[in-house]
Amino acid sequence: MSSPIRYPVPLEAYPNRAAAFEAADDVPLSPDGAATLGEVIETRYSRRAVIQGALGVAAIAALWENGLAMAQASAANPPVAFGFDEIVAGIDERHHVAGGHRADILIRWGDPVFADAPPFDPRNQSAESQLRQFGYNCDYVGFVPLDAEGTRGLLCVNHEYTSEEMMFPGLGRQDRSGFKGMTRELAMVEMAAHGGTIIEIERRDGRWATVPAGRYNRRISTLETEMSIDGPAAGSSRMRTGRDPSGTRVTGTLNNCAGGITPWGTYLMAEENFHGYFWTDTLENGKPAKDLGGPEARSWKRYGMPGMWYDWGRYDERFNLDKEPNEANRFGWIVEVDPLDPASMPVKHTALGRFRHEGAESIVAPDGRVVVYSGDDARFDYVYRFVSRERYREGDRAHNMRLLTEGTLSVARFDAQGRVHWLPLVHGTGPLTPENGFADQADVVIDARLAADALGATRMDRPEDVEPTADGRVYVMLTNNADRKPDETDPANPRPANAFGHVIEMRAPGGDHTADVFDWEVLVRCGDPAIADVGAEWHPATSANGWFASPDNCAFDAAGRLWISTDQGSNWKATGHADGLYALGTVGEERGRSRLFFRAPVGAEVCGPCFTPDGTSLFLAVQHPGVDGTKDFPGFGRNATFDDPVTRWPDFDPSLPPRPSVVVVTREDGGPVGG
Ligand code: FEO
Ligand code: CA
Ligand code: CA
Repeated sequence: MSSPIRYPVPLEAYPNRAAAFEAADDVPLSPDGAATLGEVIETRYSRRAVIQGALGVAAIAALWENGLAMAQASAANPPVAFGFDEIVAGIDERHHVAGGHRADILIRWGDPVFADAPPFDPRNQSAESQLRQFGYNCDYVGFVPLDAEGTRGLLCVNHEYTSEEMMFPGLGRQDRSGFKGMTRELAMVEMAAHGGTIIEIERRDGRWATVPAGRYNRRISTLETEMSIDGPAAGSSRMRTGRDPSGTRVTGTLNNCAGGITPWGTYLMAEENFHGYFWTDTLENGKPAKDLGGPEARSWKRYGMPGMWYDWGRYDERFNLDKEPNEANRFGWIVEVDPLDPASMPVKHTALGRFRHEGAESIVAPDGRVVVYSGDDARFDYVYRFVSRERYREGDRAHNMRLLTEGTLSVARFDAQGRVHWLPLVHGTGPLTPENGFADQADVVIDARLAADALGATRMDRPEDVEPTADGRVYVMLTNNADRKPDETDPANPRPANAFGHVIEMRAPGGDHTADVFDWEVLVRCGDPAIADVGAEWHPATSANGWFASPDNCAFDAAGRLWISTDQGSNWKATGHADGLYALGTVGEERGRSRLFFRAPVGAEVCGPCFTPDGTSLFLAVQHPGVDGTKDFPGFGRNATFDDPVTRWPDFDPSLPPRPSVVVVTREDGGPVGG
């Protein structure tokens, strides 16, 4: 068993921590020491060129790389304490942010992404309009700076899914076996509302605004964005379809949840619940058959197909397993997008495995190889790590954009001695052989879950965001798992019926993210510490407002401090708290202490925490406002719809439904967010 949390925890309590901090000083990514980003740019480019916006793509990419080096350097130092007064937990129709800060709406579903976008008219939607406008249900948010002053940048935002009853007037909640209100046109609008948005933003007089005329602006969608496929599964017979006999090209991306910005400034979109989009006309007792048979049957069963969450398969044979049984093998990957080239073709990197990727956060290891962490968000599924074969080359963008093509995918096994073992998913080794159904490495990555099963990976409580630091720490958000039985607990998933989740800290020896074995420990067990049966563990100074449930996404700020956003789904009734953003101490006397910084309106989750490199701006995605658990909202007590919403956040205009939106948080005095 890992040792119980002790507070405060001195640095020396961790065998590898002191060594990790020392090793971090040697990480070659921070050659400029304490130089500011501006100073770095000064030495490389004339200030005039920067101010005039005359930088080319290479220079902009270098801006990002140097900014990242600064952030990683600061992450290696013990962070400064949080300096804000937490807000009161609770739930209502609005958002709330800590005193001294402001939270402004930056972009909403339907807002223009291009100068020629039609005005938002939710009663007259079309796929064509939606492709020019900000999509639905914003999740991941990444920021790529476009200048050295921190006044221009690209916001990269995922649009995870759609909710018909909140999106379309008069439709009501769609019964998943009937879809009585759906039409081909509405399905096409939904496909257009999925995917991602890249949009330029600028800060004037301290306020951020979108730039619809920005030259890099782009919408990526399920409907029409062409993508290439590389890595071990590219060209496999299991990747070929009627429309793509080569198995190397695919239209669209699905259920883009979290993601990441790579050290070379590209945008990673994680395809999460792709299974939900696949359909069958094969019925059993009047219901969609659970087991469709055929060569993909074993794989479909393990991945939960057909999910039948949407009825797109009625209109587009891509999503009908009866007609295109291989199409589902072309989703569930990590997609890399070059935000500095709006004409570029995104790439699905099959080397990183196929599963319900929550996100994809990356870091350069001390030897230059690139490491990407990703959780498979399902009950009892796994934590994965990818290590590139080739090494990162600073400034060589073309080279770096091939790094995710080839490497080693591994899955985590947590042992009772406080070690995590990375088990490589390599064809021909151990059980990953033809006798066990893996003919080649394509089979291993397409069926990464089955391969990980065979290796004996640890079955986790829904791994969400996995965030590494330059000094070798990795934080794993485990959101919840009510299905875990008492006899199924293990040291890394210690609570049966884990309704509130926990956070695990892993520590790579010497800060080396490519090492075969890490240390690990539970950092906090979530839930209300005042209720003994919950079994929560926090720093005792955590207040009745500061504890949280269901950690989902996370990010570090410029000072190396960890921020965690939550998604309780409809279970917020169990806490009485809306989802929010929390500041969680990780080192020294603050370790394990949580504070509530921001809370969302009823029915929303908070996604995408993302800080600008200078730490003075924080972007948050408020997803599905007014949707989850409205039956339990006092005074409302029913399922909300477009026509009968529980809140009209953020516009509070009686003619508009609630709209998923990105919020930008700044401090009134312009200082770092969080004090
Ligand atoms: Fe899309 Fe795991 O949240
Ligand atoms: Ca999520
Ligand atoms: Ca993150």
